[in-house]
Amino acid sequence: MEVRRAAKAGFCFGVKRAIELARDTARERDGPVFSLGPLIHNPQVVEQLNRLGVGVVDAVEQVPSGGTLIIRSHGAGPRVLARAGALGLQVVDATCPFVARAQRLARELAAAGKQVILVGDKKHPEVQGIVDWTDGQAVVVEGPQEAALLPGAADMAVLAQTTQPAANFQAVVDVLQTKAGRLQICNTICHATVARQQAALELAGRVAVMVVAGGAGSANTGKLARLCRRAGVPTYQVETAPELDPAWFAGVRVAGLTAGASTPDWIIEEVQRRMKELGEMTENEETKQETTES
Ligand code: F3S
Repeated sequence: MEVRRAAKAGFCFGVKRAIELARDTARERDGPVFSLGPLIHNPQVVEQLNRLGVGVVDAVEQVPSGGTLIIRSHGAGPRVLARAGALGLQVVDATCPFVARAQRLARELAAAGKQVILVGDKKHPEVQGIVDWTDGQAVVVEGPQEAALLPGAADMAVLAQTTQPAANFQAVVDVLQTKAGRLQICNTICHATVARQQAALELAGRVAVMVVAGGAGSANTGKLARLCRRAGVPTYQVETAPELDPAWFAGVRVAGLTAGASTPDWIIEEVQRRMKELGEMTENEETKQETTES
């Protein structure tokens, strides 16, 4: 079985930067170092960072005094930063510059009196952080159906969570055009996301089965898997190689592999190696069966 890898897969610029910042911080700071929430949605990488001395807290208040708080690539709202400042914590801001741009735009547009609409997942910390930068004014919609329920407004602006599929953002924009007197469109979707989604779709069209490697809690990994499934190809999401099931590759000549933006290269390589092994195993079994039958 041949295993083809998507032209763009794995760590994006913002995640790479956040991990490097966290490693440097652990090396250089004396006091305890914690990230607010797991630094990225990949348990294996979080475990590695933990061994280097980067712990995880759920709330700013859990960081002991004299400690350092790392803000992850998803960013955080001003209220979080204010709480950290009030507690005298040192803050290392690993917010991805593309997320920081969305935060800045949202704040400026809300301050200019526009009704800000954010297309994204309400529960995602990036979205919650951006809303916080508008002082809670921005309204989050997950798709066009929710946008259709919004009241009209004279002056609206629309932004996207950086990992949104472009088609969903465009569908919301189309709905808002019918509701807003004036609509300012700020496409804050990150290129890394678009490139990974396009590469995954392109590959899904040429293989019999797709595997998406990435943390179970990673939103962009889940979206890659959904896109491939919607393209009509059987798709399986795994965190690590041992989760691969030989049955997925029975009769498969060419399989595809992609990975979310928070999946490290070593996991992608392990998964690719194991897929090849399983492909060979199933091929050998199929040949054995054919020989016995004839
Ligand atoms: Fe940043 Fe885009 Fe990655 S927003 S964290 S480079 S997916």
